[in-house]
Amino acid sequence: MKEFSDLPIGIIDSGVGGLTVMDELLNRMPNEQFLYIGDDARCPYGNRSPQEVVKFTQELISALNEFGVKMVVIACNTATAFALEHVQPMFNFPIIGVIEPGARTAVKKSVSKQIVVLGTSGTVKSQAYDHAILALSPDACVHGLACPEFVPIVERGVYKLAEADQVVEKTLAPLSSETFDAVILGCTHFPLLSHFIRKHLPAETELITSGSATADTAIHILDELQLHREASTKRISTFYTTGNPAHFALIVKDWLHIADPVVEKLVL
Ligand code: DGL
Repeated sequence: MKEFSDLPIGIIDSGVGGLTVMDELLNRMPNEQFLYIGDDARCPYGNRSPQEVVKFTQELISALNEFGVKMVVIACNTATAFALEHVQPMFNFPIIGVIEPGARTAVKKSVSKQIVVLGTSGTVKSQAYDHAILALSPDACVHGLACPEFVPIVERGVYKLAEADQVVEKTLAPLSSETFDAVILGCTHFPLLSHFIRKHLPAETELITSGSATADTAIHILDELQLHREASTKRISTFYTTGNPAHFALIVKDWLHIADPVVEKLVL
């Protein structure tokens, strides 16, 4: 019989953004298997109502529950901001998000504690990062900037083109009058634009992503529950999308360097 610890770790996002978190999890947890669901058909989540985001998040985690998982990482800031606390009591496995780990990393790396959060409109409006940062560092100053055009650029797969560079430059322009030393990429899609984001920020700015600290949290929970997988067989990563599997596979290949990813269509 399959042990519970042999089950994969589930990862969800509104689309391909969670792959940037999965990249860290793959590197840091070499024995674990992963099962990813991207809800590309309903992406973006960033301008939806909190109720809708809660409903969609619950649907994705229910799908993971049917497949069988031992833990879930909500690799989406918008879903973490609106749905994490709602879904945690609904399932019999640990569910973690990406906001507290991102806030923890920013507080560690920022010297001035003047921190900018780039996110979707929903994440910025929720002030989830402000609360998480101020809980760790009450004197910090947090400035949120909504970047609603970034997610569609990444989902269309044009994140390396000049068009993306121009949108990033225009969106970050208001920061030229701000003082800060750290910028949180508070949306998991944004690391795919980090080369352009870095280009349009002062050179010494710390760019913060939440993937590595999210991996720390996941490893800590598996340690505590003694749920690490024994590496007896080769690990497999499985991908599902509610959108177009061929398009999704192109971004998996580019970002995770998996030569021939198996991406299946998920009908919810
Ligand atoms: N990756 C999601 C996040 O971190 C994108 C949200 C969206 O779909 O707008 O917020």
